[in-house]
Amino acid sequence: MKRNLLTLFDLEKSTFHNILKLALEYKKKKSNDNFLKGKNIGLIFEKNSTRTRVSCEVAINQLGGNSIYLSSKDLQLNRGESIEDTARVLSRYLDAVIIRAKSHVTIEKFAASSDIPVINALSDKAHPLQILADFLTIQENGIDLNNCNLCFLGDGQNNVCRSLMAGYTYINGTMNIGTHINYFPDEEFLKQVKTAGGKINVFPEAVESVIGADVLYTDVWVSMGNEDETIQRKKDLKGFQINKEILSKTGKTPIVLHCLPAQKGEEITNEVFESLNSKIFDQAENRLYSMKAVLKYVFNG
Ligand code: CP
Ligand code: NVA
Repeated sequence: MKRNLLTLFDLEKSTFHNILKLALEYKKKKSNDNFLKGKNIGLIFEKNSTRTRVSCEVAINQLGGNSIYLSSKDLQLNRGESIEDTARVLSRYLDAVIIRAKSHVTIEKFAASSDIPVINALSDKAHPLQILADFLTIQENGIDLNNCNLCFLGDGQNNVCRSLMAGYTYINGTMNIGTHINYFPDEEFLKQVKTAGGKINVFPEAVESVIGADVLYTDVWVSMGNEDETIQRKKDLKGFQINKEILSKTGKTPIVLHCLPAQKGEEITNEVFESLNSKIFDQAENRLYSMKAVLKYVFNG
C-alpha cells in the first residue's frame, strides 16, 4: 500500500496521534531501528531549506536508509521534463520521494504519477511535517492537546497556518488566528477545517486573539514566493508581532513557537525569541523525531 503525506488530511485521526506518540519514543530512547536498510529516498527541493532537508536526511540515515538530494535546478525538470515523467522514472529507482515545491499542484501531480510514497516537505499550501513537530513540542511542555488554546499571529493564509488549522481537526483545543483582513484564511479551506471538527476563530486584531493562549505561534510575514509583496505585507501585518506586551495580554504564561527561519524585529522581537517562553529550538530539534515517525508510518503503516 502506498502511503502519501501531502497534507495532514491524508492521515486518519488515530494515525496522527500514533505518529506523535512514536516521535516522542524516538526522542526518548535516542536509539533507532533499521527499517530503512536498503531503501533509497529522494529529496526534490525547489526552494531553500535548512531544517527540513537536514532533519529528513539525518532521519533517513539514522534509520539505516540512503538519501539522495535532488535540487530541482539539476534535474531535467529545469529543462522542461514534465513532473509526471519525472515521477514515473524516479518510481523505478527510489523507494519514496520527499518533495518541497513552489506549487502544491506540483506535489499532487508528482504523487498521482508515482508508484512510491510521496511526502510533502512544504508547498505554498501546506507544511505537514512542521506541524507534527510543533504538536510534539506543545505536548512535551505539559500542554494537553485536547485543551490547548493556540494563537497564530501573522499571515493567516500561509502554509504553516493552514497546516496548523488542519492539525486542529485532530484535537479538541481551539486555534485563534490574529491577522489583517487581507490575510484571513481562505473561506473554503476554513469551512473544510470547521466541517472536519476544527475549532478555529479569526480576529482582525492581535490583542483579542491572544487572550487565554497557551501557545503563541508565528511565522514570517513574507513566505518564500511572496517576495514581491514584501512592502505591503510588512505594513499590513505590523500590528501582529509577538512581543512582550502581547505576551502579557494572554493572561497566561504561554510558550512561544516559530517554525523558523525568523525575521527578528518583524513577526517576533528578539527579546521574546530569546525569552524563557520560547521553545523555538526544541521545536526545530523535534523535526528530526517527527520525521522518523513519519517515515515509519510511510513504510510500515
Ligand atoms: N521550518 C522549516 O521548514 O525550515 P526550513 O525551510 O529551513 O526547512
Ligand atoms: N511560511 C514559510 C515557512 C518556512 C518554513 C515559507 O513558506 O517561507
